[in-house]
Amino acid sequence: MGSTTINDALDYLFIHNTGKQDIRDGKVPVIVRGEGDYVFDEGGNKYLDLMAGNTRPNAIGYGREEVAKAMYDQAVKLHYFTPGFFITTPAVQLAKKLASIYPGELKTTCFVCDGSEAVESAFKIARQYHYYANKQRRFKIVSRQMAYHGQTMGALSALGFLNPMRNVMAPLVPGHVFLIPPYCYRCPINLTYPACDLACADALDSLIQFEGPDLVAAFIAETVMQGVGALPPPAGYFDRIRQICDKYGVLLIIDEVIVGFGRTGKMFGCQHYNIKPDIMTMAKQLTAGYAPLGAAATTKKIADAIPAFLHLHTYGNHPVCCAAAMKTLEIIERENLVKNSAEMGKYFLEGLKSLQKHPIAGEARGIGLWCALEIVQDKKKKTPFPAKDAITFQLTLAGRDHGVIFRGMSNALEFAPPLTITRSEVEDGIKALDKALYDVEKKMGYK
Ligand SMILES: Cc1ncc(COP(=O)(O)O)c(C=O)c1O
Repeated sequence: MGSTTINDALDYLFIHNTGKQDIRDGKVPVIVRGEGDYVFDEGGNKYLDLMAGNTRPNAIGYGREEVAKAMYDQAVKLHYFTPGFFITTPAVQLAKKLASIYPGELKTTCFVCDGSEAVESAFKIARQYHYYANKQRRFKIVSRQMAYHGQTMGALSALGFLNPMRNVMAPLVPGHVFLIPPYCYRCPINLTYPACDLACADALDSLIQFEGPDLVAAFIAETVMQGVGALPPPAGYFDRIRQICDKYGVLLIIDEVIVGFGRTGKMFGCQHYNIKPDIMTMAKQLTAGYAPLGAAATTKKIADAIPAFLHLHTYGNHPVCCAAAMKTLEIIERENLVKNSAEMGKYFLEGLKSLQKHPIAGEARGIGLWCALEIVQDKKKKTPFPAKDAITFQLTLAGRDHGVIFRGMSNALEFAPPLTITRSEVEDGIKALDKALYDVEKKMGYK
């Protein structure tokens, strides 16, 4: 029998995306406290958090009193007022601050509660822009296989996995179509970079032709994909994508919900690839998880074309969440956390590469503090383990036994620690992962 909290959770709470049997089997810890880059469960076990809260928002570590204080001060002054028909100052101040650091020509921001709503907002900005430009027929959204854009119905319709999340919720929003992904380790069209000449990006051209250029509103892409663990694009990929979007008047939505605010070692992932998005989505690290906030930003040209943005979420532009974001950004800048992400990210990736001595450790890749390690049954053939082995789940459990939290993502392990991680914590994390790999390999009969 689990603890009272676990039993109550089973009775009274929907735990997102988690099998009830795993909860009953005691494989789902109750986290009660955080401090710096560590969290503690109700049994007193301490874990180095290599996943920044597991969904990756926590850029600045746990227990930041100054963020709590900024939220408290704002709550006492004005905790809430509607995002429409009136204006509140924290949202204006945050939007202005963001405009000063955005990549490309982004300027105007819509604040909502999370990444999924940011993606919905991006789709609405795209549709409304085309509507007012007399291109009302442009409604289709191109996404990519293996893409993740969230859980609300529009965002879910852009989800590029054939998994229960899509299938159980079908029918989804019509008009979503999918491009092949730039997954070089297992190229979907069996080519090799750079000889492929970015055929996976060029496929966008024929897809738009097929779907009807006059019907396509936008192409949405994560800067670095998460579906198989961190997957940076090959060099030149986004240049090609931008050219094709421009050729057909299709808006380019860049989804920076994970990577925005320093995860990749630059403030925005776009800055690695010189991408100039028409619309960009953000969330997670914007408040480091201290408050729920997502955002979609667009250019002056697009914002000016929309006379009144048709959108109204009760908790849009929320004053307390915007205050949390302002303080989070101040900390990221003051403590040079973007630089730390670049430096510690390199060190972390070196550590992962050193683990490729393991028979089941395939490609190690990453950018800044977002890394992945492919787990393979056969290294040469890159064969994944059968699903029934739940290999990445086994590894995450073994990792926890050694005091670290990381995550399984498709056939890979994923790592996205707080941007505050130190050199010695990186070393501890890699050592623990090494042990977890040995444990599981032993269980699976590897020598
Ligand atoms: C790229 C991307 N977009 C959107 C989302 C959805 O964000 P949220 O879970 O905050 O709704 C996520 C969540 O992981 C994401 O990774």
